[in-house]
Amino acid sequence: MNLNTLARRPAYDGFARLLHWLIALLIVAQFVIGWIMPDVHRDTLPNGLIAWHLGVGAAIVAAVACRIMWRATHAPQPAELSRALTLMSHLTHALLYLLLIAVPLAGWANASSRGWAVKLFGVVRYPDLTQSGSPTGHALGDVHSVLAWVMLALIALHVCAALFHRVVLKDDVLQRMLP
Ligand code: HEM
Ligand code: HEM
Repeated sequence: MNLNTLARRPAYDGFARLLHWLIALLIVAQFVIGWIMPDVHRDTLPNGLIAWHLGVGAAIVAAVACRIMWRATHAPQPAELSRALTLMSHLTHALLYLLLIAVPLAGWANASSRGWAVKLFGVVRYPDLTQSGSPTGHALGDVHSVLAWVMLALIALHVCAALFHRVVLKDDVLQRMLP
């Protein structure tokens, strides 16, 4: 491998980039569905857009699990940034990962407490996280809604940071995640 090849070697490998953009797309869809689906009450049935929210949610759980396992075994090349920016980006990314786990798990636990099945592609049934009627599962529905807003704020910060790198600092940070 010569120096030119080294310089062009992508920071994140193809699978990491694919998962980043696939999950970003699913999460945008999930927010839109979450906002436009009917309000969920005690006797609501998991039909229509609610079924879509559970289905897309199951896909997010699977994709995030793949992503975390891939990330744990395929560390990206570190970006050349100041200590302050490195610290800030590590903190934001760690929080994003935490929310990528916590938001879906809270939604899933809430679905279980309502007796709703969570299935990947409508086929593979995930285990119930709480018992039907569980008060904890019920409370986790509120946690899910609140944490989804925290996640949205962090995503906004993350996107602004990516654009700041591109437009103001004019470095190659955005390129690191592009094809
Ligand atoms: C739902 C939306 C998104 C989520 C949850 C998300 C999450 C993440 C996470 C967790 C990382 C850290 C990757 C790692 O080191 O393992 C990352 C990296 C990155 N994301 Fe996003 N992202 C989202 C959308 C976007 C968008 C829209 C952009 C571009 C405008 C973007 C640009 C980047 C870039 C450039 C990196 C690499 C940063 C670096 O090199 O350190 N992301 N993203
Ligand atoms: C990152 C992924 C997710 C995002 C961004 C998200 C977002 C949302 C949003 C915005 C709402 C509406 C909240 C409100 O109106 O107060 C909602 C509700 C809900 N979501 Fe999710 N969701 C995600 C994943 C999941 C998953 C994986 C499941 C289950 C498998 C799920 C199940 C639910 C349920 C049951 C509700 C109704 C909660 C209630 O009103 O008590 N969500 N979600």
